[in-house]
Amino acid sequence: MTGKSYPAAPTARVFSGIQPTGHLTLGNYLGAIRNWVPLQREFECLYCIVDLHAITMFQEPAALHAATRQVAAALIACGIDPTRHILFNQSLNPDHAELAWYFNCVARMGWLSRMTQFKEKAGKDRERASAGLFVYPNLMAADILAYRANRVPVGEDQKQHLELANSIADKFNHDWEVPGYFPEIDPLILGEATRVMSLRDGTKKMSKSDPSDMSRINLTDTADQIAQKIRKAKTDPEPLPTEAAGFENRPEARNLVTIYAALTDKSVADALAEVGGQGFGDFKKQLADAAVAHLSPITEEMNRLLADPAEIDATLFKGGEKARALSRPVLAQVRDILGFVHSG
Ligand code: TYM
Repeated sequence: MTGKSYPAAPTARVFSGIQPTGHLTLGNYLGAIRNWVPLQREFECLYCIVDLHAITMFQEPAALHAATRQVAAALIACGIDPTRHILFNQSLNPDHAELAWYFNCVARMGWLSRMTQFKEKAGKDRERASAGLFVYPNLMAADILAYRANRVPVGEDQKQHLELANSIADKFNHDWEVPGYFPEIDPLILGEATRVMSLRDGTKKMSKSDPSDMSRINLTDTADQIAQKIRKAKTDPEPLPTEAAGFENRPEARNLVTIYAALTDKSVADALAEVGGQGFGDFKKQLADAAVAHLSPITEEMNRLLADPAEIDATLFKGGEKARALSRPVLAQVRDILGFVHSG
């Protein structure tokens, strides 16, 4: 043991992040953002627009800048309250990058090599992927643990990264003999739509990076675009099943009904009790109405906020300062734990 003791981690602190690349999708909304809002009633929450993660793949500076403001506006429009909680873009707090370096020295190459997201994003030519893309999960762990946060609401696709973050926390606590210094992270994978799939292929995740815009619903889409994308969504010739067991080998049917359930605040079983047996033609109209009713007030508010970019920037700067005030003592403690000569 080092013999020194450090203040206990907060009992419950929420952290989550989202990349400012392209437009936000219905997947981001149903899988993550929507679940972030009610957590604000119970916990202290930090929500971060992860621009450092975004540049692990090349981003046009002007597009990155615009997307950062757009994500901030979307989060506020969805109900994130930057006055009572913390909303900021990651690069405003350099403590994330510093802690990520320490974690680069804790995480093992073998752990990182097993990350499915790295394999997907790097594709066949791994030699050409950025080193940043490889150590991406270490930065994610740093985002969370710079605040010693322990609750992280995410979609299903981020679960493996959070398991890796827990391995990093464990190894750090063990190697430097500071049991419990970094808390165990609890992934919060909430709601019916934890993995929203592409509208063109029910076996692929809905993603902002899919080359086809018809594969996703963006939070910036107009009512007409939403209706058109749903009308053209891939389906099969059978009517909808009346029970979830009937989704077997019908990924598109499962996806559309799951989206409908999430948008109308029902379980999938209740949604099927309502729409089971319908043909896709009628169901798609109902789904489009539900999507438009749910999303258009958000899009409207987002556009209103985007008319005042200076106000959005000021909100992010304030969030960055509040975030830094929380992480500064943690980083000082970590330097101390590591044995650095430091001044606090
Ligand atoms: P990102 O920007 O890809 O996605 C943001 C959030 O949206 C969820 N999500 C989905 N959920 C359901 N269905 C989908 N099709 C779908 N697509 C995206 C993601 O699971 C995520 O919760 N690495 C993270 C960002 C990050 C982070 C963090 C998250 C950086 N640091 C620390 C949590 C904690 C990412 O790229 O998310």
